[in-house]
Amino acid sequence: MTVSALHFYERQGLIRSERTSGNQRRYDRSVLRRVAVIRAAQRAGIPLATVATAFGELPTDGVPDQEDWQRLSAAWRQEIEQRIAQLEHLRDRLGGCIGCGCLSLATCGFVNPNDDAGRRGVPSTLLEP
Ligand code: FES
Repeated sequence: MTVSALHFYERQGLIRSERTSGNQRRYDRSVLRRVAVIRAAQRAGIPLATVATAFGELPTDGVPDQEDWQRLSAAWRQEIEQRIAQLEHLRDRLGGCIGCGCLSLATCGFVNPNDDAGRRGVPSTLLEP
């Protein structure tokens, strides 16, 4: 783990340190558990803001124990599954684009996935040159 990563987590309010008289940072042992959870969450693509919220709700002074981690990871599993479903949907839509290259606002569902104007009958091709 890089020092800059620890400083970043600290600036984000995810961990805390004490300063020595020489202004060096010292981390409490409990910070290791928080960092472990942060790293695991990052590997799973969980936003740091979500992690910060979860830490704020921990009863144990913000230090996740095994039970906390089980609860957090179970909650995040649903988020990960939603993301997987979105990516699968995106992949399936991309399939028609492979080798096409038209990038048409009128016909490409990948370039123009939420064509609200088109659904209302307003041709989105008006935006094309
Ligand atoms: S690039 Fe042609 S349909 Fe998407």
